Amino acid sequence: MVDIHSHILPGLDDGSKTMDESLEMLQLAASSGTTDIVATPHANLEFSFDPAVVSNLVNELSDRTKGLIKIHKGCDFHLNVDNLQDALANPAKYTVNGRAYLMVELPDLTSISAMRNVLNRLLETRIIPIITHPERNRSVQGNLKEVELWVKDGCLMQVTGQSLLGHFGQTALRFAESLFDSDLVHFVASDAHDCVNRPPNLAPAFKLVSDRWGSERADALFNHNPQAVLWGEAIYALPKPNKKARFFAFWK
Ligand SMILES: [Fe+2]
Repeated sequence: MVDIHSHILPGLDDGSKTMDESLEMLQLAASSGTTDIVATPHANLEFSFDPAVVSNLVNELSDRTKGLIKIHKGCDFHLNVDNLQDALANPAKYTVNGRAYLMVELPDLTSISAMRNVLNRLLETRIIPIITHPERNRSVQGNLKEVELWVKDGCLMQVTGQSLLGHFGQTALRFAESLFDSDLVHFVASDAHDCVNRPPNLAPAFKLVSDRWGSERADALFNHNPQAVLWGEAIYALPKPNKKARFFAFWK
């Protein structure tokens, strides 16, 4: 599996606090079946983001884990005015491995209709926004129609594995299920912050998605799609829920 959202770098945000904790998190990720993990420290009003510091820590952790797991560079990009201006001017500073995809955390209380214009500004700059955990955002929860519009525009959705297990409450769980049932999920990631409460262990969520929505979808969301993000390639087409429509599309 490929985990595109994690706070494994020590001392940069509210994730790992020490190098030892980071190493422990990476061991846990590898032992639960993750081959690649993107380090996405916060860039928000509380935590500043410096790509040079991220690079140094990724290199140090890669050296110390000796091939146990591949670590990639990214950012948990909070969508505020200053960040937006900087990302439009310097996209590679924040995107995953400096390529096409940006992990975007929306403000918790925001005007949902204004958000579409902002996301389109990123798309016009050829940055593909991956909205992190829409199921946990209080402004987005329940706004399935708006999420549908964003996806039609070209945005992608990342659900947090623990949301599917109920760790973020019933509202997040129900909205995550609605997103799945509406074919509006493109990635599942851990958003790991530590080894205990928010661990980098995707295995339970992978099993749940396989059992409920099928192994083809689980492979797309935990493996193929996130793999494409690492290299800036187009993501796989997802299996469509309407089999009849798919049949006719095939014969067109
Ligand atoms: Fe995060």
